[in-house]
Parts: sequence; structure tokens; C-alpha cells
Amino acid sequence: MKLMAFVGSPRRGSNVDTLIDKVIEGLQSKSDAQVEKIYLYDTNIKNCIGCLACTALKGGRECPLKDAMDSILKHMIKTDAFIFGSPNHVHSMSAALTNLFCRMQPLIKMDVIRNDSGKIIGAESKTLIQNKRAVVVVSQGDFNLSQSALLLRTLDSNVRDFGLKKVGEVFSAGNLEKAQVKDKEADLLLAFEAGVRLAGA
Ligand SMILES: Cc1cc2nc3c(=O)[nH]c(=O)nc-3n(C[C@H](O)[C@H](O)[C@H](O)COP(=O)(O)O)c2cc1C
Repeated sequence: MKLMAFVGSPRRGSNVDTLIDKVIEGLQSKSDAQVEKIYLYDTNIKNCIGCLACTALKGGRECPLKDAMDSILKHMIKTDAFIFGSPNHVHSMSAALTNLFCRMQPLIKMDVIRNDSGKIIGAESKTLIQNKRAVVVVSQGDFNLSQSALLLRTLDSNVRDFGLKKVGEVFSAGNLEKAQVKDKEADLLLAFEAGVRLAGA
């Protein structure tokens, strides 16, 4: 199977990256998965300009931005499972992960429903990554779990909008320092087990 892991933290080797590695370890304990890890902050992915060209409303045209995203989307279609990881940045997912979800909009294929006068009255959508498995990973600095409530909900909504099946949620708190999660056995185990579920076991 093929896995794509998106690291939405600007800190390489830190908390989100460490937890993602553990998920991958869990997955590879059950399958010889081919892993592609993408550091969003080190990849040429321009900010979505909100032109809506890729949406059904504008005819589902090609994205005008020329960067790594075209290749990433092609890989996503051929991939079986995903990890989306983010630090809590001001109660939200990181800017880079938010932008990834914006730039993934071309994967959504929407049929617009119009009434007799041509007015849009609804829409039905499917995605090109429908039913693939996903794990979400979040690390925050504070010990108060409610800090990431909004972030976890937003991640869930996006995973659902893309038709993905969430098989695991890895959440770790109290990680203000770089790579602090490395000492947290319980959180690392949670990540490993999520990886096992990604393998379908
Ligand atoms: C700009 C910024 C905003 C942050 N906002 C929050 C916050 O609102 N709540 C929180 O608990 N932690 C917050 N943090 C702390 C990070 O979520 C925490 O350090 C996390 O473990 C970072 O993961 P990383 O080491 O993989 O980057 C913030 C960190 C940064 C850099």
C-alpha cells in the first residue's frame, strides 16, 4: 500500500513530525507500505488565491498556480492512506495545512443542481480520494485539552469533506518545547496504534 504523510509543522524533527513517524512505524509493523512524507513548509505550495477556477461553479478548470501541488494531487489519487499532522497554531491548524486543504479542492467533483430558471439549489459531491483511510495528528503547547477543540473539529470536517475514513486521531498536549513528545510513551503508543489501524488491521 501507499501512504502520504503531510507534516504541517515548520519544525522538522519536532512534536508533530515525531508523532507522524510513530504512526508510520505502526503502519509498517503490519504492511510494507511505501511512504511519501511531505514537509509542507519546505515544499513549493503557493497560497490558494480563492479564484474558484477548480470548482464546479467555474467549470472545474485547471488551477492557475504552478507549483508542486499538481504532482501532489496526482500522487494523492494513487495513494491508499494519508496522515495529516498539525501543531496548534492560535487554536487552529497551521497555515500550511489549511492551505493544503484549500489547494486540494480540485479533488472534489461536484454536480451542481439547478432549478428550471437555472438557479443553483444544491450540489452533490464526490472526491477523487473517496473512502481512503486517514489519521490526524495534533500537538499543542498548553495542557488544557480544550485548546485544540476547534482544530480537531476542523480537521474532522475536512477529512469528511474529502470522503476520507478517519481511522485514528493522535493528540498530544503540553509540548511547547521542540520534540518534547519524545518522552511521552503513552502518546507515542497512541500514534503507533493509529498506524496499525491505517494498515487495516
Ligand atoms: C504561532 C504559534 C501559536 C501557537 N498557539 C498555540 C495555542 O493557541 N494553543 C496551544 O496549546 N499551543 C499553541 N502553540 C504551541 C504549539 O502548538 C506546540 O508547541 C506544538 O507542540 C508545536 O508542534 P511542533 O513542535 O511539531 O511544531 C503555538 C505555537 C506557535 C508557534
